Amino acid sequence: PPGTAPHASRGGVRSPARAAIAAPHLRTDRWWLAPAVTAAGLLAFVVYSTWRAFANADYYAAPYVSPFYSPCLASNCRTMHLGPNADVFGSWWAISPAIIILIFPLGFRLTCYYYRKAYYRSFWASPPACAVAEPHRAYTGETRFPLILQNVHRYFFYAALLVAGVLTYDTVLAFRDTHYRWGHMGLGTLVFLVNIALIWAYTLSCHSCRHIVGGKLRHFSKHPVRYRAWQVVGRLNARHMQLAWASLLSVALADFYVFLVASGVFADPRFF
Ligand code: FES
Repeated sequence: PPGTAPHASRGGVRSPARAAIAAPHLRTDRWWLAPAVTAAGLLAFVVYSTWRAFANADYYAAPYVSPFYSPCLASNCRTMHLGPNADVFGSWWAISPAIIILIFPLGFRLTCYYYRKAYYRSFWASPPACAVAEPHRAYTGETRFPLILQNVHRYFFYAALLVAGVLTYDTVLAFRDTHYRWGHMGLGTLVFLVNIALIWAYTLSCHSCRHIVGGKLRHFSKHPVRYRAWQVVGRLNARHMQLAWASLLSVALADFYVFLVASGVFADPRFF
């Protein structure tokens, strides 16, 4: 990510230390395609998630609770008899409970190394692509406020572990029927299973996770368990971008599925 270059504090592609090339760039391929597609994808998710987070409705269809609203901490979850949710906040919190919940997964994704690259390129054009000069005159990378705050990513990783744990719990609860009897499955159960697998794969493929698991070791040979774990995380980490998109899509689809069932568009098909 930007900020790691040694010349970060001097900044700018127009600085005297850089090659004096008059053309904005010398690339002849469609370098703009990737940032354009990225911007469209991220924008679509932002619009969808904003609508759903503020909707404050249609987020529970027994036995499924939307991942955007779980765990539901507000009293309106209790009054709606929402089964797996708890009334932690009492009645003073009248706004959509998703607003509190989403701080953690959104913070995790906003500070993620991959998403940083994605939105720096697609929204800030900093730079828009490899070997394409950015329009900004100065460049300080992530060395100053506010971008230096991106360093909190490692702490968001711990929060993301908790979020994944909660969503795992919700997936277990999805093996019930609409009367909360165990040992049942519907289409929603499959949707939740795919989502939780992708959420865990994305979370564990995090660069911070890779460092926590295998970093700061002098000899891997003295830590065989961490070495194995580091290899697994490393393999996932190589797919971090793909997992970021797949899990973003799956979490939106899981929420949309709950929305469709909760709002009565169709009934959850039950397998047994
Ligand atoms: Fe992407 Fe940690 S680097 S989630």
